[in-house]
Order: sequence, then structure tokens, then C-alpha cells
Amino acid sequence: MSSRRDFISQLSILSLTNPNYNPISVVSNSNKWTELKSQYLSNREGFVNMNIGSAGILSRPIYKKYCEHIMALNAYAPYEIYQKSEKEIAQSYIRLANSLGIKADDITLVENSTAGLNRIIWGLPIDNRKEIICANIDYPYATQSIINKANQDSLKIKKINLDLSIMSDTEIVQSYERAINKNTSLLLLTYITHIEGHIMPVKKIIEMAHGYGVAVLLDAAHAYAHIEHSIADLNPDYYVTSLHKWMGAPLGTGLLYVNPHRIHQLLPHSPYSRQEQGTIHKLHAKGTRAFQNEIILSTVLDFNSQVDIAARENRLKALTSIWYDSLSDHKGVKKITQADKYCGMASISLENNKINLDKELIDKYNIHIKKINRQGKKIYRISSGLHLDESDMNKFVNAVNTIIGC
Ligand SMILES: Cc1ncc(COP(=O)(O)O)c(C=O)c1O
Repeated sequence: MSSRRDFISQLSILSLTNPNYNPISVVSNSNKWTELKSQYLSNREGFVNMNIGSAGILSRPIYKKYCEHIMALNAYAPYEIYQKSEKEIAQSYIRLANSLGIKADDITLVENSTAGLNRIIWGLPIDNRKEIICANIDYPYATQSIINKANQDSLKIKKINLDLSIMSDTEIVQSYERAINKNTSLLLLTYITHIEGHIMPVKKIIEMAHGYGVAVLLDAAHAYAHIEHSIADLNPDYYVTSLHKWMGAPLGTGLLYVNPHRIHQLLPHSPYSRQEQGTIHKLHAKGTRAFQNEIILSTVLDFNSQVDIAARENRLKALTSIWYDSLSDHKGVKKITQADKYCGMASISLENNKINLDKELIDKYNIHIKKINRQGKKIYRISSGLHLDESDMNKFVNAVNTIIGC
């Protein structure tokens, strides 16, 4: 009987030779989840990484293949190996684009969401009477780039305040709508917020903004391989995501989409030629880079295709619900995220703000979570990937209960 590793490498070959390669199947029984978990390196020392929202981890088959690519790049000449892989990389572009309902000609790989956001923010010629809308819930580095751009080009920023612990989708859409006026040029919109893990009503906001002729830059850093969505359906003007988060691609892999109607306007800081002006190719001019991150994508796609996106979303939500529901009756715990708005990532704070939950968890229980300071209040964000299972969620709940005294 062939091993899982053999199977994965067979899939890799299959995906190269067959562009119509289909995912295996939806993983639906618990043995499959256990099997999937066993394919991650992180299980070796009982370390529980509940911060996949910051950066994902490689599964063993991906890690092994990644090392092989790095070895090949260094044993031969990097450009030679890269050029030999170009067809495979082009195939990965097609597979990524297909998964989002768009064409490979409308995407480019970038280092991460930060880079993708900046390619757009700095590539857009916006004249100085115009305004950009952003919100208090956006990623601070995205907002900071908007501030810098506004300072440089004398643009106005309209920053709206959203309270995601109580607001409904309708109220959120209305808040954005109220901020729009005839000078609004661009709206920065976050799909899944970095503090709460709140899934925003982005389709409704995009539709509303387009009704006023306002372009939308969708920061979907946390969305790909986390929740089911398609760019074709959402219809943003620009979309960025980090493949190294929920998809488990190597660190430094992101994706940028530009709506084909918008590409001609963009003047990115890259050395493109006149002929490339109206095409996505102007974003492909990136110089020498981590070639291994592009070559490995076919293996990452194969690995991810073990679970279809609907099954993955259900699984991530189910894992999060285990700890979120268990802690919900605890007087010492305050829930930050609305129960029907999270998937694999949600947040809490403690009544006793003096407790350093993150430190206690890592020091005493080998559990890693993310701490975020918001106006002096410590917020703890917990994000779970497919490398974890129910036992990890229970371990986390028991640890929190012990720390806060239950
Ligand atoms: C909402 C959001 N946007 C953008 C980013 C930046 O992602 P990256 O560090 O992969 O560039 C993050 C990082 O966590 C984020 O949470």
C-alpha cells in the first residue's frame, strides 16, 4: 500500500500533467481529520499553536518538498530551476484563479497582504481633492499606508468607527454608506478583522460602494483557505490575501487581484514596459525573489485539495465553537466576537486585566495565542488550523479555566 507521502507526490505529478485535476473529496469523518493533523510537524512536542492567524505552518509533505526545491535551486542555478518550473507555476496561477472564480491573467503573486495593499495604495493616482474611507477595525499597517499616501498627495481620509461587538450587518453597511460623498475615491475594506475575526458583510458593502462609483480595495488577508468565497461573486476592484496564513503556504506568499477594468489606471512602482501597461504583467516584474515559494505552490494546492473549502470552513468553525462555547458561561471571560460572525478565529478578554493569559498559557501549558492591546485592555485572539483537533481545544479550555480560577 502506498504511503500518504507517495500519494501527495503522485498528486503533484498529476496536477502538472492534468490541468483539470479535481480535488480528492470532502473530508467528512473524524478519522480523516486525525490523519490530516498527523501530517503536521507541530504535533511532535505537544506544542499547541493557536495563532495561525498571524502565520500558518507547513505540513510535512509541503515542508519536505520545499526543502527539495531549495536544495535544487542551490545545487544548480536558481534561474535555471525557476525557468524549468515556469509551466508548473503557470498551472498554479490557473488553479488559484479558478478557486476564486477569476482568470489567471488577473492575479499576481506577491510577498504578502502588506505588499499587495501597498502595490495598490501607492499605485493608484488619486487627485488631491479626493477622499479615502477606512475604518477603526482595519489592519493598522493598511491604515498607516493610507495615512502616508494621504499626507504625500494631500488626500482626505474619512475613518469610520465600528463597534463589531454589537453592530449588525445592516448597521455596518450604513456606516460605510454615510461616509461616502462625491469626492470619495477609494474604500479600504477588511474581510475578516484582525482583532475580532469578524467576517464583514463585504459583498453588501462592495455593491453599495459601486452604486456610488467608489472603488473597493478588499483586504482579504485572512479569507483565503479559511472561508468559502469567490472574487467573481464579491466583485471587489482589488483583492489581497496572504497564502501563508490559512492555506499553509511558505512564509512570504501572497496573492493580489486587480479587476481587469482597473488595471490600466494602476501605476505600480515596478519596471513594466509600455506594452504591459494595460495588463497584469506590469505587476509581475518583481526581480529575483524566493523562487521556491512559487514552485512549491502546486504541492500546497495539492495538499489543500484533500479538504474542500466548505468542509474546511465547517471544521474551523466547529473547532472554534468548542472553546468559545465552553468559555462563554465563565464570569471571568468576556467574549469579543459575535457568535455568528467568526470562523476559525475569535477573541476574548478577561475581567481581570492584570492576568497575562498569553504568557501563562505558553509558560505553563505550551499553548501559543496572540495578545493584542486595545486602549489598555488585553485582548486574546485564538486562531485554529487543521493541524489542531478537539483535544487541543479542550486542553486550551482547561488551561484557561485553571489560570483564571474556575
Ligand atoms: C486584516 C489584515 N490585513 C493584512 C495583514 C498583513 O498580512 P501579512 O503580514 O501577511 O502581510 C494582516 C496580518 O495579520 C491582517 O490581519
